Amino acid sequence: MKGIILSGGRGTRLYPLTKTISKQLLPVYNKPMIYYSLSVLMLAGIQDILFISDKENQKLYRELLGDGHNLGLNLTYKIQEEPQGIGEAFILGEEFLEKDSCMLILGDNIFYGNGFTGKLKNSLSLESGAMIFPIYSKKPENFGVIEFEGDRIISLEEKPEIPKSNYIVPGLYVLDNSVVEKAKSIEKSARGELEIVSILNQYLKENKLFSNDLGRGMVWLDAGTFDGLLEASNFIQTIEKQQGILIGSIEEIAYRNGWIDKEKLLKLSEPLLKIDYGKYLVELANEK
Ligand code: TTP
Repeated sequence: MKGIILSGGRGTRLYPLTKTISKQLLPVYNKPMIYYSLSVLMLAGIQDILFISDKENQKLYRELLGDGHNLGLNLTYKIQEEPQGIGEAFILGEEFLEKDSCMLILGDNIFYGNGFTGKLKNSLSLESGAMIFPIYSKKPENFGVIEFEGDRIISLEEKPEIPKSNYIVPGLYVLDNSVVEKAKSIEKSARGELEIVSILNQYLKENKLFSNDLGRGMVWLDAGTFDGLLEASNFIQTIEKQQGILIGSIEEIAYRNGWIDKEKLLKLSEPLLKIDYGKYLVELANEK
């Protein structure tokens, strides 16, 4: 299983913040937004990751994350010239994927909750088809909406005027390799994008669209608006301060996954020692 992070986009809902910098480099409390989506792929156990961004920001992402070897990752980069839809990620990722399946996450999605890692790992056993992670939303009309009959998905609609349920598709998907051909076969929508919902509808037609309900204890945040960004920061701050843990620390996950040793973790903590982040990593390294 390989991973793709889609981190382009225009970020127009965050203007003027995003006039000069990519949305996913903005801070969510004490880390760049992108740490949270990268950490999801790492929690799933994925080390081979393609990072798709716009041209202007690619240099900044490379400076931030490099080739990933410090974290036991193998990161490669690709440019999306224009934000032509989530579906384009699979066309851009064709060579990278070779014959493999993938987990795709959008760079502005934040997930947090008990049991999440287990659900991520379970989804990797999908041999054929696509898996989505439905979540309950008060405003389903802003997202891809799922209609269920019992546990079975019977329809998917992108931003419908009259939603058929409160369940929506967040920006996390597991897809078999047929996604590449499916992405090539769809037409652009009226808004000029290769829609992920069109691809998922093809899986649905083949009876190969599966859902992995994240349940009520799960928090999903879309940090793409001013309120979303602030709420995400407040949420991360509350949990980190209350519990004394870090959310979305890529160094911690790499260490717990056994991808880096104690010495490497201590090295990564060095530039962070003035702040709690670094002290936390040192404590982690010294834990028995
Ligand atoms: P959106 O929030 O739908 O779009 P955006 O980031 O351009 O923001 P805005 O609506 O404010 O203009 O995108 C969701 C995520 O997917 C975000 O992380 C950017 C990413 N994305 C791409 O990288 N390429 C694309 O073509 C699209 C549509 C989205």
